[in-house]
Amino acid sequence: MSFSWKKVFSKKNKQTEISPDSVPKHIAIIMDGNGRWAAQRGLPRTAGHHAGMVALRRTIRAADEFGIKVLTVYAFSTENWKRPVAEVDFLMRLPSEFLRTDLPELIAKNVKVIMSGSRTGLPRHTIKAVDEAISKTANNTGMILNFALNYGSRAEIVKAVREISQAVAAGSLQVNEINEKIVADHLYTAGLPDPDLLIRPSGEIRLSNFLLWQLAYAELCFVEVYWPDFKREHLLAAIEAFSQRDRRFGTIKL
Ligand code: FPP
Repeated sequence: MSFSWKKVFSKKNKQTEISPDSVPKHIAIIMDGNGRWAAQRGLPRTAGHHAGMVALRRTIRAADEFGIKVLTVYAFSTENWKRPVAEVDFLMRLPSEFLRTDLPELIAKNVKVIMSGSRTGLPRHTIKAVDEAISKTANNTGMILNFALNYGSRAEIVKAVREISQAVAAGSLQVNEINEKIVADHLYTAGLPDPDLLIRPSGEIRLSNFLLWQLAYAELCFVEVYWPDFKREHLLAAIEAFSQRDRRFGTIKL
């Protein structure tokens, strides 16, 4: 049975109506606050990341239920390499741990797994797990689950500039042919619609080098819970808030 936006209930248990047209197609999430969640409980940071993985599972299920077309999650940034080695090692094992348990469910739900980020520097076991998920879901036609892994927006833009410059140097592209579509086509997210909604839990109000080009017209939603406490109701509230926003894309309504 598919989810009906005609009858959703907000967390205050008020009936609300959301038109399917005002549901975001692409939601991007900065899964922040794992460390603080753990510290609050006197637990090691890795326990926070583990709880973050459980929150990710819940969120994928909810996003799929709500008919979201693309869900991009910031799993590891290019800056996260500066963390202690033990924490980096733990984070690099999470994709394989997650996919070992959850890949069958993703396949059953027709979810297509993709990755945005640099493969260079990722441990072999991480790439192997992600590649297996990508290849086993390659023909799926449901929600796209995009892992932003070893991802940094500035590095991504530098990569695009280099590739475009190489095409110009090789004579296959003229400088005056460079346009926004060509730049977008050289980003890791080539082919995906831009995110309509960015959600960042944990109370931090910044973008942290995430999808700087792609978020140009996204609605931003900052949520006051740590990521491990993020639940279906928070996703629903963010989508409800999004549906109330007046998106003008720089133009005016006549
Ligand atoms: C930021 O919180 C979170 C991360 C760097 C890792 C995100 C990873 C997960 C949510 C686990 C699920 C991932 C996969 C791939 C299955 P933080 O550590 O910066 O938190 P803090 O700001 O409270 O210290």
